[in-house]
Amino acid sequence: MQYRRLGKTNLTVSEVGLGAWALGGGYDWGKTSLQAVQETVNTALEAGINLIDTAPIYGNSEELLGRALIGQRQKVFLSTKCGLVKNGSWTDHDLRASTIVTQLENSLRFLRTDYIDIYLIHYLDPHVPWQEVFNTLSKLQMQGKIRHVGACNIPAEVLQKMADTGMLGCVQDELSLLHPQKAKHVLEICRAHDLGFMAYGPLCGGILSGKYQREPNFRRADARNYFYKCYRKEAFEKAQGLVKRVRCVAEQKQAKPAQIALAWVLAQTGVTCALAGARSSEQARQNAGGCEVQLDTEEICSLQK
Ligand SMILES: NC(=O)c1ccc[n+]([C@@H]2O[C@H](COP(=O)([O-])OP(=O)(O)OC[C@H]3O[C@@H](n4cnc5c(N)ncnc54)[C@H](OP(=O)(O)O)[C@@H]3O)[C@@H](O)[C@H]2O)c1
Repeated sequence: MQYRRLGKTNLTVSEVGLGAWALGGGYDWGKTSLQAVQETVNTALEAGINLIDTAPIYGNSEELLGRALIGQRQKVFLSTKCGLVKNGSWTDHDLRASTIVTQLENSLRFLRTDYIDIYLIHYLDPHVPWQEVFNTLSKLQMQGKIRHVGACNIPAEVLQKMADTGMLGCVQDELSLLHPQKAKHVLEICRAHDLGFMAYGPLCGGILSGKYQREPNFRRADARNYFYKCYRKEAFEKAQGLVKRVRCVAEQKQAKPAQIALAWVLAQTGVTCALAGARSSEQARQNAGGCEVQLDTEEICSLQK
């Protein structure tokens, strides 16, 4: 495993982090047993992964992780989030101070810890100015409950203002071969302000591992049906050209396609780490190996064409 400094947080994190959305089964990815979570987490730690990302909204993810990490909390940096709240089948944006405090207390309890290393705003709340949210987070930081503040999915113009306050340590946004330009402006801001950048969805929910020979038939409520936008008929077919190129580079380098997709993300300037979701030991082991693959300019060009 290779490690990088996560911007001005000064945490030294593994280039590949473990994303725990799918592990928690939220948004109908399907349930994962405690045993499978334990094995996945243990394998990730053995492979040198020291960053695990979760959120209250990721099903039972925090609770399962809390149990899987009994006796090994100190081996990892934990990042979790605030601001999204389940309301029946609907998800509300809620960054009121009282909601953040409640969400954090729940996260601490589920994760069986008394501090969160990186606490992220998941999405902005149109009814609460971000400055007010920063005030709330600053108080929680002073109480020692959160170490560093980060933010996800923030439009570049707002992120610029957040960065100017000096309070932000890192950012989380989507970046993958299928969406190579999506985080362009955000990455520029990260570079200019020494903010760590955690890339989410580096496999676009699994498609870039090359495992789908044909359009997958996820359950109706499965997040992959709408979140990644590459599993619908035309988009899926369009993505196959890229998947073929990923497979081809993987064969040349005797690596797995998922590792090539992760290596591409890690080769982008400004990226600190790729958060790869995994639901088994095998996936966690394979993904951790993504940081061992070095792509040269020719290979990067062939993937991007
Ligand atoms: N801040 C945000 O708004 C935000 C949004 C999305 C994600 N995230 C974070 O980023 C993490 C990563 O994103 P993600 O989990 O959505 O997507 P991802 O990492 O692109 O894909 C994860 C899925 O791909 C499949 N997979 C993983 N490794 C594989 C391998 N080696 N071979 C074959 N299949 C493999 C698994 O699907 P199966 O279920 O089919 O096994 C896994 O659940 C999340 O877990 C979460 O922590 C943050």
